[in-house]
Amino acid sequence: VTTPSTDWKENIPEGEDAALEKLARELVEPLRARASEGKSVGRALHFKQHTGAKAKLEVREVPEHARHGLFARPATYDAYVRFSNGAGRHQKDSEPDVRGIGLKVLGVGGRKVIPGLEDEQTQDFLFIPTPTIPFRTAEEFVGFVSAARGGPLLLLPRYAFRVGLGRAISIVRRILKTTTPFRTFAGARMFTAVPNRFGPFAARFKLEPVGERDDSVTTSGDDSLAADLRERLAKAPLEWDLAAQFFVDEKTTPIEDATVDWSSPFTTLARLTVPRQELEPKTDELIETLAFDPWHALAEHRPLGHIMRARNHAYRLSTMERKAAAEPR
Ligand code: HEM
Repeated sequence: VTTPSTDWKENIPEGEDAALEKLARELVEPLRARASEGKSVGRALHFKQHTGAKAKLEVREVPEHARHGLFARPATYDAYVRFSNGAGRHQKDSEPDVRGIGLKVLGVGGRKVIPGLEDEQTQDFLFIPTPTIPFRTAEEFVGFVSAARGGPLLLLPRYAFRVGLGRAISIVRRILKTTTPFRTFAGARMFTAVPNRFGPFAARFKLEPVGERDDSVTTSGDDSLAADLRERLAKAPLEWDLAAQFFVDEKTTPIEDATVDWSSPFTTLARLTVPRQELEPKTDELIETLAFDPWHALAEHRPLGHIMRARNHAYRLSTMERKAAAEPR
C-alpha cells in the first residue's frame, strides 16, 4: 500500500527532553570557547557557508492529499538558500564531509510551532545529500561529533567507549560508504531525511534537480564549491523540484528511526529556483546571520521523531550562542 496514512505516531520515552537538552549543550560547547577566545563563533555544525543566495519557491497545484500547510494552494514565495559543509569548523572542500542546503521560505502566513515565535513568517527545510543518517539516536549523533573533535585517530576508540564497539564500527563504516566525493551542488539530489507533519499526514522531503545533470566542474582549490556556485549562477539559474514522500506504515516509513530509508513514492509540490545572479557579499553576510531551523515551521509541518526532537534543543542553543538574527519578514 502506498496511500498516505494518518496513522503515524511519535514514541517519546520518559526523560527524553532533559537528555536532549544535555546533548545540545555538549554539541554547542565549542561556541563558548570560540567566543571567549575572540574568534568568530559561527554554527556548531555546518560552520562553512559556501554561498547564501536569494531564491524563489513556486508552489504548484498539487494532488488533493498534499493540499496542506505551505502546499494548500499555488503561490510564489521569496526565499533564502544557504549552501554549506557539515563540519563544525572551517575546512577544505576536498575533505570528506556532509553538505547542506538550508532553505528559508519567506512570507508564509499561519501559526508556527516554536512558542513565542507563532507569528513569524518563515518555513525552513534543511537538506543533506543522503536520504538517511547512520545514527539511531541523538546520543549516537552527538557522540560522533564529540569523538571526531579529537581527530581521526582517536575517533573510533572514543566513539566505541561511548556507544559500544559494534555500533561504532557499523556507524563509521556507513559514513565512509555514503560520504562520496561532492564537487558541485548542481544536479545534487538533497533530502530532509527525517519527517515532518503534513497536515493530517507525515512526510519527508527531497530536492530533485531539474533538467540535465551538468556536474562537470572547472573550479578547484580549498573553496571550490563556492567558486563553482558563483560561476554557475553568473550564467544560469539552479533549479530543483521540492517533493514529498508520505508516511504509509511504521515498518516501511518509520517515524522514530532515521537510519531506515522510506520506500513510498514522491509527489512533486513546488519548484525551487535560485535565479541567475551575481552573488552579493551583502546577501551572503545577511544569510550567515540567519537561523535555519527545522522547527521554524507551520503547525501543519511540525517536525516529527527523536532526531527532530533533538534538533528542537540544538538549533535554539546554537543560534542563541552565536547571536543569530531574528526571523526575517
Ligand atoms: C537528518 C538530520 C539532520 C539534517 C538533515 C541536518 C541538516 C542541517 C543543515 C543543512 C544545517 C545548516 C543550516 C544552515 O545553513 O544554517 C544544520 C545545522 C545544524 N545542525 Fe543539523 N541536521 C540534522 C541533524 C541534526 C542533529 C540530530 C543535531 C543535533 C542534535 C543537529 C544540530 C545542528 C546544529 C547545532 C546546527 C547549526 C545551527 C545554527 O547555529 O544555525 N543537526 N543541520
